[in-house]
Amino acid sequence: MNNCIMVLFGATGDLASKKLFPAAYNLMLSGNLPTAFHIAALGRRDYTSEYFRGEVRSALEKVLSPARQKEIPRFLELISYHRVDFHDASDYRRLNEQLGRIEQEKGTGPSRLFYLAVMPPLFEVISRQLAENGLKPLDGEGWSRLVVEKPFGTDLKSAGYYNKALRKSFDEKEILRTDHYLGKEMIRNLAAIRFSNPLMASVWNRKFIDHIQIEVNEDIGIDKRAGYFDQSGMLRDMLQSHILQAMALTLMEPPESLRPDDVIKAKIQLLKRLKPVRRRDVVIGQYTAGPESGHRAYREEEGVAPDSQTETFVALKTGLRGRRFRGVPVYVRTAKRMPARTAQIIVVFKDHKIAARLFPDFKKRQNKLVILIQPREGAAFCFNSKDLGRDEIVQVAMDYCHNCRIDVRSPEAYETIIQESIAGNLDIFTGWKEIYQEWKYTDRIQRLVRDRDSSLHYYEAGSWGPEAARDLIERDGRKWIQLDL
Ligand code: BG6
Repeated sequence: MNNCIMVLFGATGDLASKKLFPAAYNLMLSGNLPTAFHIAALGRRDYTSEYFRGEVRSALEKVLSPARQKEIPRFLELISYHRVDFHDASDYRRLNEQLGRIEQEKGTGPSRLFYLAVMPPLFEVISRQLAENGLKPLDGEGWSRLVVEKPFGTDLKSAGYYNKALRKSFDEKEILRTDHYLGKEMIRNLAAIRFSNPLMASVWNRKFIDHIQIEVNEDIGIDKRAGYFDQSGMLRDMLQSHILQAMALTLMEPPESLRPDDVIKAKIQLLKRLKPVRRRDVVIGQYTAGPESGHRAYREEEGVAPDSQTETFVALKTGLRGRRFRGVPVYVRTAKRMPARTAQIIVVFKDHKIAARLFPDFKKRQNKLVILIQPREGAAFCFNSKDLGRDEIVQVAMDYCHNCRIDVRSPEAYETIIQESIAGNLDIFTGWKEIYQEWKYTDRIQRLVRDRDSSLHYYEAGSWGPEAARDLIERDGRKWIQLDL
């Protein structure tokens, strides 16, 4: 039975208002919330439930189209607000009584989903207080799960510390570590594309693949998140989890089955096979003012130190050990304030000698499979064809749009995260051993660029990044691919 209360820590924060409440609302509209469900929103501010519901209403009105706003009053009935000092045991005991009453009144039953939309330094105290003050349902009565947001720590050492702290109060199976990219439709589609198509499965190796490009670019800057981002930077914020997860799912060996344990095992093996990045294979950058785009420099953003060395751009080249992909470079590019928001994985296939012999004048022969993660979701296969009415060869695309159907709305990543955490499907959460490998890999790169001031390359906001990132790939005779799909 999935009926439960979602106990949301950090309910007054950005993530809750921009992502979690809209996601829960959409789940309600699509009939994907449990029959009996309630959100106990927790924060340190002294709000009444009525006032807080007003805040949620305005947050929803900002992100939902008018046509989707009609059911807001019904959604607000599912929410209550509770002021809690996260360090005060008596607040937890009071909360426990309040939750008990809600469970009775609303018939949600004893199961509790604790959602920690807070920074990692609070993980320890919250998880301990929950366990010590009896907020976890007793064994056999209902389930309890603890969802924690990324970033899980700031390096391997802190991640290990937080993990130990959580494990004192919750079992491994009760801890759901999110990476919302695992909730994105096309990331979830990777296994289907790779393994359910015999054609793909048979060319997914170094005999056929020339190289792979993984890009997650954003046109936005850092919004009001300087407090977090200036301490973090792109390596920790994007590479450590989102990019490495996308890479693992793209390159892992076929798992024994698609059960979470087997998929996690395959991802861990892949992460262990990643070759250490060399200093010359990583470029970090920071945006300066963009006269054309009208954006200010990173160092002028609200809350950013005027001499900040934090990177807003990363490009790197990596590769894998092992028979399947030895010698196949993987290029990564991820940045803020790029000209467009694009996230995609491009698999570039090798040229073929027959094609080279028969079509010597047509140079751009390499076939490409493009997995479009966002904003458009889909996949395109770029292949060569005779041009219409002419004898020339051109590259054309077979283009599948995943989110173009008008009868089905593509769920937002956080809808999937909430839905699967309620259902207890662990395959879209990351296991501790994966996080361990991710930090190990990222820490090594952090050490390579430790002296950031001498490593930082500057690029104009609204451009495709520094020259050095172009050199990184062009010295191998390749280019960052920009497709007009
Ligand atoms: C978050 C990062 O995890 O992902 C943000 O902290 C980033 O800096 C965001 O903007 C990107 O998510 P999405 O879903 O918009 O691609």
